[in-house]
Amino acid sequence: MRALVYKGERQVAVEQVPDARIEAPTDVLVRITATNICGSDLHMYEGRTSVEEGKILGHENLGQVIEVGSAVVRIKVGDWVCLPFNIACGFCRNCERGLTGFCLTVNPGMAGGAYGYAEMGPYNGGQAELLRVPFGDFNCLRLPEDAQERQDDYVMLADIFPTGYHATELARVSPGDSVAIFGAGPVGLMAAYSASLRGAAQILLVDHQRDRLRLAEKIGAVPVDANEGDPVERIMELTGGRGADKGCDCVGWQAHDPSGDEHPDMVINNVVRSVRATGTIGVVGVYVPSDPHSPDELGRQGRVAFDLGTFFQKGLTMGSGQANVKAYNRQLRDLIHAGRAEPSFLVSHHVGLDDAPDAYRHFDHRDEGWTKVVLHP
Ligand SMILES: NC(=O)c1ccc[n+]([C@@H]2O[C@H](COP(=O)([O-])OP(=O)(O)OC[C@H]3O[C@@H](n4cnc5c(N)ncnc54)[C@H](O)[C@@H]3O)[C@@H](O)[C@H]2O)c1
Ligand SMILES: [Zn+2]
Ligand SMILES: [Zn+2]
Repeated sequence: MRALVYKGERQVAVEQVPDARIEAPTDVLVRITATNICGSDLHMYEGRTSVEEGKILGHENLGQVIEVGSAVVRIKVGDWVCLPFNIACGFCRNCERGLTGFCLTVNPGMAGGAYGYAEMGPYNGGQAELLRVPFGDFNCLRLPEDAQERQDDYVMLADIFPTGYHATELARVSPGDSVAIFGAGPVGLMAAYSASLRGAAQILLVDHQRDRLRLAEKIGAVPVDANEGDPVERIMELTGGRGADKGCDCVGWQAHDPSGDEHPDMVINNVVRSVRATGTIGVVGVYVPSDPHSPDELGRQGRVAFDLGTFFQKGLTMGSGQANVKAYNRQLRDLIHAGRAEPSFLVSHHVGLDDAPDAYRHFDHRDEGWTKVVLHP
């Protein structure tokens, strides 16, 4: 089969590789028809992770089942399925509680596994013609009859829609809240969209990418342009000096100023400053336990100069981590099917697998208009 393979810093290539196949009786084999490039892929692409050369990338996958293992009972050949980016067993201590982002079975020694991702187990990704899905009965989200026509919406259920939703869940966004969201990438846009679905009264979305801020406006969020001064001051103005009720970090440790210089503590501390006393914060932007390529010593140790004093003084609460996609994707799927959610609004490019390396380049540059790329192997 053909697949997009990691080759080294800012190098990916489409190569002929051995076909993905059923390896365990509980596996399902999926022919991939839509698979996204994610901001998370860029951490690997930029050489900021330990991902090994030869890994097939891609954790936002949708397609049609072409084979099932002998122990698979629920999923059938021909089903259209979307695959949560977390690979989970469904029966461990964490999975039982719905915390499938922290499965204890699929990636021994760590909590959590995923397709095509650094440190997330031996699993290949779906930026390829075929994908092996372990524990297929558990890890396939079956899609309704409009799956094929609405792939652009349903493929967002693999990661960014549930992840954006997770940010608002961690932040406990409730009807009437004001919410400050940092990062208007796909995840931040989905967090804003989710905040709106949850009844937030005011959604403030911060970025310095103007094309992304325009999309924010389209979904009813108030854009806060970080090129035009301190975004926290602007948030204070817009919330009558009180600060937002809730905050979300949808950027993570590769936060940078408008000139591109990285400051790993920039966004998390801006969220702390933006949220009113006793508020709640959801952190889904990624932070890493070590970053050998970080420009500063603290960063190399995976540490961040966090304003714990302000956090404590304000009595804030914070939740973080990988999204437990399974906890939300069925409900979000039904919102899409019912016509009440259309996460495809952020798709900017449809690309064949051969053009994926070029698409990686554009998305990594945050080139104007490259919001979300869907690959069609
Ligand atoms: N927790 C999870 O389960 C999960 C899942 C998917 C993605 N992620 C992470 O979420 C983050 C965002 O993902 P994405 O796909 O939207 O990525 P992205 O890189 O496309 O978007 C990030 C956005 O943040 C903006 N940004 C950078 N510095 C900023 C700053 N100082 N202030 C405001 N905005 C700033 C960038 O301009 C960009 O638009 C990444 O860290 C990604 O790895 C986490
Ligand atoms: Zn992703
Ligand atoms: Zn598990």
